This record gives sequence, C-alpha cells and structure tokens, in this order.
Amino acid sequence: MKKDYNFGYTKVNSKQKTKLVQNVFSSVAPSYDIMNDLMSLGMHRLWKKRFVEIMDIKENDIILDVGSGSGDIAREILKENLLTNLYLLDLNKEMLFEGKNRLKKEKNIKYFIGNAEKLNFKNNFFDKYTISFCLRNVTEYLLSIKEAYRVLKPGGKYCCLEFSTPKSSLISSTYKIYKSKILPFLGEVIAKDKNAYKYLSESIDLFPSQEELRKNLLDCGFTNVETINLFNGIVAIHTGYKL
Ligand SMILES: C[S@@+](CC[C@H](N)C(=O)[O-])C[C@H]1O[C@@H](n2cnc3c(N)ncnc32)[C@H](O)[C@@H]1O
Repeated sequence: MKKDYNFGYTKVNSKQKTKLVQNVFSSVAPSYDIMNDLMSLGMHRLWKKRFVEIMDIKENDIILDVGSGSGDIAREILKENLLTNLYLLDLNKEMLFEGKNRLKKEKNIKYFIGNAEKLNFKNNFFDKYTISFCLRNVTEYLLSIKEAYRVLKPGGKYCCLEFSTPKSSLISSTYKIYKSKILPFLGEVIAKDKNAYKYLSESIDLFPSQEELRKNLLDCGFTNVETINLFNGIVAIHTGYKL
C-alpha cells in the first residue's frame, strides 16, 4: 500500500508533496526575507544567532547547511570570523539563487541544488550539518536524518532549528490563533500567496514534537542528543553527535 504524506492537512503522495512544497518556495522566494521579519517580528534573527552559537564552530570546520534558502545561517556563520568551508544546499533553485545573490562577495562557499533525502556527498565528510526551518518541509524527513548521519565525520555535530511544540497551554492557544489567522493574512497581503502561509501554519502543527524528534535522532544513531527550547518551545534547537 502506498504511503500518504501531509502537505499541510491535505494527504498527497510522496512526489506530489515534494512538488507542492517546492511550488511554495518558488512562489515566496522574492518576499521570503521580509516575511520572516514580519511574521516573527525580527525574532528569527535572534533564534538563528543562538543556533549558530550552539553549533560551536571551530576553525577549518567543513559545514553543510541543508535547505539554506536565502543564506541566513551562512551569514550568521560568517559573523563568527572563523575560516570555514561552507556548503549550501537547497532543492529550490529560486531560494538558492536568493542566497547566492546575498552572499556573492563571500569566498569559501559552494552551492548545490539537491535533496536532503539523498545527498551527493561522500561518507564522513562534514564537521557540522545544519538544517534551519527546512526539516518540516522534507517529504521523507527520517531519510534526511540518516543522510546527515552518513555525511558527518565521527565526532561531527547535527544541528536542527525548527518550529516545535510550545510548553504552556496559554501560549499554545494564542499561537494557534496567530498561525491559523494572522499568518495566512500576512501571506496574502505581503507575499500575495495566502495558501503558501496556510501551508506554513499547517506544517508547523503537524511537525513532530521535541520528544518525537529526539527519539528520531537517537534511532538514526546520534548520541548526546539535546533539545533547547526557545520562546517556550515555539522554536527548538536539536543537536546530536555522530560517534
Ligand atoms: C523555510 S526555508 C529556510 C531557509 C533558511 N534555512 C532559513 O532558516 O531561513 C526552507 C528551505 O528548505 C528548502 N527545502 C525544502 N525541502 C527540501 C529538501 N527536501 N531538500 C533540500 N532543501 C529543501 C526550501 O527550498 C527552502 O529554501
């Protein structure tokens, strides 16, 4: 029997999900940065800063940023002023183009169109694997975690920043109204695509909780798995090591 996948609350097959998600990112690419600032009131910048601090980058690290989009994580990494080799990968050429364009003055960055589910990199190659607000969009997200494990060196670190489940019921109910009403409204007015932001809201609802994702990471072989909640768990940073 064929497996169903969630494209928001709509059930689709695997190919359809990947295509529909990519349509969303092609549509929002030009307004992606302004929407991020508006939707989070600039908070996404603080979350990404904290995420990069937690990555604990070292001189000469080889870093893979999956679902790199418009390059926010790369820009934050570059602020650390360390010599690193950055590999940015995204399945969507419009989003990768946004990133490439913003980072055009930077050296030591390589760009790849590719799918998190099947990485075209050799085993044991990277010191750090980062994935920020992308995992939720990956059709076979468990495959992507297995691939992360494969391409990391022994001792390498997995770092995921993603929407998660708020811990307080009061915040949870307020956030629910924000996601279902305000997000699609902002999407319609600013990005001219209400459905893309309806998808965003639904994909957040359906994404595994902190505890489920922790179990997934352990099942895929990661050790010392940790979760750091930001904003009461609206967003969480998940880390783990390949030993
Ligand atoms: C919400 S954006 C996040 C961009 C950036 N990492 C950030 O934090 O601002 C998600 C990105 O993941 C990419 N993406 C979605 N599914 C993917 C997949 N299966 N493999 C690689 N990239 C994917 C999208 O094209 C999009 O650029």
